Amino acid sequence: DKPTYILAIETSCDETSVAIVADGATILSNVVSSQIETHRRFGGVVPEVASRQHVETITWIIEEAIGKAGIQPSELSAIAVTQGPGLVGALLVGLVAAKTLACALDLPLIGVHHIAGHIYSNQLVHELQYPFVSLVVSGGHTELVYVESEGRFRIIGQTRDDAVGEAYDKVARALKLPYPGGPHIDRLAHEAEEGVPLPRAWLEPESYDFSFSGLKSAVLSVLNQANMKGQQLAAQAVAKGFQDSVLDVLVEKALRAVAACGAKQLVLAGGVAANKGLRERLAARCSEIGLPLLAPPLSLCTDNAAMIAAAAFLKWRRGQFSALDIKAEPSLKL
Ligand code: KG4
Ligand code: ZN
Repeated sequence: DKPTYILAIETSCDETSVAIVADGATILSNVVSSQIETHRRFGGVVPEVASRQHVETITWIIEEAIGKAGIQPSELSAIAVTQGPGLVGALLVGLVAAKTLACALDLPLIGVHHIAGHIYSNQLVHELQYPFVSLVVSGGHTELVYVESEGRFRIIGQTRDDAVGEAYDKVARALKLPYPGGPHIDRLAHEAEEGVPLPRAWLEPESYDFSFSGLKSAVLSVLNQANMKGQQLAAQAVAKGFQDSVLDVLVEKALRAVAACGAKQLVLAGGVAANKGLRERLAARCSEIGLPLLAPPLSLCTDNAAMIAAAAFLKWRRGQFSALDIKAEPSLKL
């Protein structure tokens, strides 16, 4: 049988990405054009600038992805695209490109939720077993998702303020580290013996929710106080204090959720899943209790279109196609 080739487009934030994946499992191409350099001088993603850059790059990236995959457009089975959540103008560029391809090639269109993409990035490298709990941690999201069966998601905990990656980036900015700061904080945290003491936001005893804005403020206040006393705090100690506080809460709540849901696996996803400290800690705790921990390789943690193709393949198998008039949904529900 001929494989199912899905061409997927991801433009929800600051990466323009196009991938072609066979049978939801084999990546033929996964081209990612990052706008990080463009946004760095602003210290964060500027939505209007992101949209414009997606417009300028999308057609090139589509051509490159098709070229690298070594198949003809006529061999494609479907076109997938991130429908939301994300920046509306950025999503729109991917949607228009995807609809155009679907029309021109007479192929079905499959709208995909960005978080489903992050979760199913694991499907490209692992065998998922239901039910599982996924810890989705990125620049825009911090969610504990119970996945009962294929495509059935229930959010059991989420951030009440900043996303974890956002907190990393803001703390990094206060430490004058380049954008995006997550990887820098992660590296510095490993260089310190001891971290500065910082609070942990456990919230209500039964809650699986998160809060990181108080921690971010605590870091700023520690830095300010040192400044006023004319002291120079080591960035490493601040990074370690911050990372320890974040990881304590993420790891504890994730494991509690696994136990409460009777999950068979813990599935890590999202840009912050690239965090070395988080991976190490979860790996240690999971091996203690004999719980399988799945995490995508670093290249599939941050935004990419292969993960969108992987999630789309599951919808394709179920015949869940989208109409050609679907809209960009900046706050699409999972
Ligand atoms: O998933 P992603 O590419 O985009 C969103 O959907 O948000 O995640 C990007 C986020 C950024 O905030 C970045 O700082 C963070 O992931 N990140 C990290 C690490 N690598 C990337 N945060 C902590 N430690 C890392 N090693
Ligand atoms: Zn993402």
